[in-house]
Amino acid sequence: MDALVAKGVCRGYGRQKVLEDFSLTVGAGRFEALMGPSGSGKSTFLHVAAGLLAADAGSVSIGGTEVTALSDAAAAKFRRRHVGVVFQTFNLLSEKTVKENILLPLKLDGAAKGPEVEERLKRLADALGLAGALGKRPEELSGGEQQRVAIARALVVEPDVVLADEPTGNLDRTNSQTICELLRGLNATEKSAILLVTHDPVVAACAQCVHFLKGGCIAASHDPQGDPARVSELYLETCR
Ligand SMILES: Nc1ncnc2c1ncn2[C@@H]1O[C@H](COP(=O)(O)OP(=O)(O)O)[C@@H](O)[C@H]1O
Ligand SMILES: [Mg+2]
Repeated sequence: MDALVAKGVCRGYGRQKVLEDFSLTVGAGRFEALMGPSGSGKSTFLHVAAGLLAADAGSVSIGGTEVTALSDAAAAKFRRRHVGVVFQTFNLLSEKTVKENILLPLKLDGAAKGPEVEERLKRLADALGLAGALGKRPEELSGGEQQRVAIARALVVEPDVVLADEPTGNLDRTNSQTICELLRGLNATEKSAILLVTHDPVVAACAQCVHFLKGGCIAASHDPQGDPARVSELYLETCR
């Protein structure tokens, strides 16, 4: 079953139309990227897909559940179990340790204990290079480390889909590359599909498919073939 299916999504703010007849499918276990000019509606779509923002029309289903038909409370519960959201600003809780931050979605569901959870935490912390940071607080970490905590928190529930909003937005090239490789690696070993919003052709080139958002909907979708130059060309062709 597809990880994410958006059909004819419309969403505006007041009289401004942002998403218009926006449709997109991300297959199970796929790693795909979404690019588009600033203000084109990328974050708006991720928020609709996560059930954090209502659609004016259309639907988004994740793992077969129509997220856009759920109440706020049901969407929050669904998100905790099936959707990993990585916000650009991390949204980590400063008074909690790294371990507590990562386990938060499970704790809210009363499922943060047991050997299986410890095992999952260890695996993620090792993969993301956070093993030595679990007892620290977010303010004691670098930006790159905080970013990785946000990613670990998104992945800990073994979500059907990870929605990541410019997760490398405030990282330097080396850290961006590391995050990319980690996401690609985790995507290969975990079962989660990933939809990654990015401005960075180098990051988008890591994906199996890049969707270009223009005029409220997906104007084109291409396999970047691992080539950032190809992504830049396609972006200019499509989004100029
Ligand atoms: N809460 C809001 N209220 C009013 N306008 C908004 C709101 N959020 C976003 N917008 C507008 O919607 C458009 C798309 O925003 P956004 O989805 O954040 O774009 P992107 O993530 O592609 O940069 C922009 O013009 C933005 O100003
Ligand atoms: Mg945005």
